[in-house]
Amino acid sequence: MLVTIPDVLKPEELAHIRRVLESTNWVDGRTTAGDQAAKVKHNLQVPVDAAEAQELGQIILRALGSNSTFMSAALPLRVLPPMFNRYDVGMTFGAHVDGSIRAVPGSGQRMRTDVSSTLFLTPPEDYDGGELVVHDTYGTHSVKLPAGHMVVYPATSMHSVTPVTRGSRWASFFWTQSLVKDDWRRHMLYDLDNSIISVRSRLPDDDPAVVALTAHYHNLIRHWSET
Ligand code: NI
Repeated sequence: MLVTIPDVLKPEELAHIRRVLESTNWVDGRTTAGDQAAKVKHNLQVPVDAAEAQELGQIILRALGSNSTFMSAALPLRVLPPMFNRYDVGMTFGAHVDGSIRAVPGSGQRMRTDVSSTLFLTPPEDYDGGELVVHDTYGTHSVKLPAGHMVVYPATSMHSVTPVTRGSRWASFFWTQSLVKDDWRRHMLYDLDNSIISVRSRLPDDDPAVVALTAHYHNLIRHWSET
């Protein structure tokens, strides 16, 4: 399931993030990639331990915490600190699947990556190419969103970033371990949640159908979630 979430960032948050990134230090993106991905990865990143990455990551985590669509689509157990990447002209990232396990910085813990997210930070009219291409069981999806919008997709998906041919594409990306690791179950829960929201717009909250569907949703999460 691929879900696009509009306006994750407020305009002033986006402007602040872009301003800080203007003057930050970028390094070769291969430092955080596994062996296979490193061979096809050609981009720049802000070092994970840079003060800017941590400050800007907090802004994004705070925005995610109040985003009901992200909560419903990802059912997050824990979210890794957001990272920041940049593709200048000629830069690209060939087909790969993100590593399944990542270290949680500073904690000595490791987590499973169930959901991948890309938060676009550059307006699409400012660059050519740089589409995120996600391959899933339903085919190939090419994603290029307005700045401040985000796409969420299963970390099990093969994906790539096409070469940038004009301008520079900046984004934040991060992984989530979900309470529900199976993408199909997450998909069904997301659809059910949206159906309940739709039903609640037409029926009172104490209508027996609303009460029963809501109970069903929560009991499915209880049944399927794992930590
Ligand atoms: Ni990737």
